[in-house]
Amino acid sequence: MSNQTTYEFLYAPQGDVLDQYYTGRDRVTMIMGPLGSGKTTVSCMRVFDQICEQAPDAHGSRKSRWIAVRNTYPDLTGTTIKDWSDLYHNEHTQLGKFNKDFPPTHHLDFDLEDGTRVIAEVVFLALDRPDSVRKLRGLQATGFWLNEVKELDKAIVDMCDGRHGRYPKDVPPSWHGIIGDTNAPDTDHWYYELAEKEHPEGWTFLRQPGGVIGTVTGPPSKRVTTWKPNLNAENINNLPDGYYIKQIQGKKGDWIRVNLGNEYGSVSTGKPIYQGVWNDAVHVSEHKLLPIPSVNKLLLGFDFGRTPACIVGQLMPNGKLRVLRELIATSMGIRSFMDMSVIPCLKKDFPTFDIKDMEAYGDPSGVAKSGNDENSPIGILNDEYKLTTYPTATNIPLRRWESVNEFLMSTIDGVQAFELSKCCEVIRKGFNGGYQFRRLNVSGEKYAEAADKNKFSHPHDALQYLSQGAQGEINYAWLDQHLANSESNQSVIADSVSGY
Ligand SMILES: Nc1ncnc2c1ncn2[C@@H]1O[C@H](COP(=O)(O)OP(=O)(O)OP(=O)(O)O)[C@@H](O)[C@H]1O
Ligand SMILES: [Mg+2]
Repeated sequence: MSNQTTYEFLYAPQGDVLDQYYTGRDRVTMIMGPLGSGKTTVSCMRVFDQICEQAPDAHGSRKSRWIAVRNTYPDLTGTTIKDWSDLYHNEHTQLGKFNKDFPPTHHLDFDLEDGTRVIAEVVFLALDRPDSVRKLRGLQATGFWLNEVKELDKAIVDMCDGRHGRYPKDVPPSWHGIIGDTNAPDTDHWYYELAEKEHPEGWTFLRQPGGVIGTVTGPPSKRVTTWKPNLNAENINNLPDGYYIKQIQGKKGDWIRVNLGNEYGSVSTGKPIYQGVWNDAVHVSEHKLLPIPSVNKLLLGFDFGRTPACIVGQLMPNGKLRVLRELIATSMGIRSFMDMSVIPCLKKDFPTFDIKDMEAYGDPSGVAKSGNDENSPIGILNDEYKLTTYPTATNIPLRRWESVNEFLMSTIDGVQAFELSKCCEVIRKGFNGGYQFRRLNVSGEKYAEAADKNKFSHPHDALQYLSQGAQGEINYAWLDQHLANSESNQSVIADSVSGY
């Protein structure tokens, strides 16, 4: 026995998500949360609990080895080791020697009340580059704790994943795997890919509530976001009063959203158009959405031009807009787009819906004939594809954004009035910042009034026409006129044919 003092650690995670992370025993568990949400503390406590949970060997020794990983050495010593030591190696608590040489290692050695002995190592390593994985060579580990996961290269996580479960040797590890904590990364980060798209088996990704919630007022290019404390935030009882709300002072919206709001943030120099209105955590479905058969209509929004886009949705009787699919193409006219992308998708994903069960809406400029085509894109959809397609009443950008905002900002019986299928990845990235006002090349923060034309703008335009259509903001008269013209053209042709 190495230690005569008795310690009792009283710890209760302050929040459901913290609790799931603390008690989870999947192969890999990651937690994403705002600043100060208790992530590092709960990670330390979980490592410690699991060290004590390791089954004893024949001599009654519970042996394990954990590797605590941080991206850089200064962060490792200044934060990770410090946070660990605050709990388990300080003037009040001595559970074994802490060797500060390389690599810094806490050699835990103490007895439990049941008479067994805990002999464990927590090795602290900085792994900032993929090749720093060499430092892991020869280390036989039970588990890894990745502190601030978003700073780590994916190659490092992969290497760690292949190196746990190798210790102890004389009894099998009672558990082995990886745990990790992080602030919200960008939407183009590997973490986002795994957590939101790939869902690897055995990996659990947990997301804490944000510390603040934003509401937006004002016109799109001059929006003001007002932040208020989120009463569901975790760990607030252990933080100073007004911890989150006081931090918003002097901070940029992006910073607040990611660090305090716990929303995925994309790095962009422009200003996201739906900033503050879009909330990735509440507007995206958990699974790929399927059509509701009882709603016997599909709505399609079209953006025309050489980079066409089509968004498929359904309007529920209660007024909720469900966005089901996004179809996007480049260097394609409307006919090729329909033949190669839209029609095959409709047949495959919506087999019970006939073309007469669908209604489409498009840019009003889509009624103009283009190039040497005899017909306009909206005319082609109506005449050749028998898809009832209306031009919307206006294509003024402000009105189009407002139309989407109305869905995003409304709730119906406590449920969001807008739901985006998880499979609509481009639309989602656009909402998360890719669809933006371009930053003007002048001093100060000034932005263009128009949306930047980029890969996100075409599907977003199509979504705007879809939501305008869903709200009945349609130029009905155009279609009546078009159909009347086509009929009279047909009868002229019929007359001239019969005249022969
Ligand atoms: N269960 C708890 N009981 C008491 N205090 C706690 C508890 N959990 C966390 N704290 C305290 O709350 C504060 C924030 O905790 P912690 O550092 O773990 O958060 P974090 O999410 O890792 O923050 P950051 O994002 O800054 O890394 C710390 O002062 C910590 O001591
Ligand atoms: Mg931390």
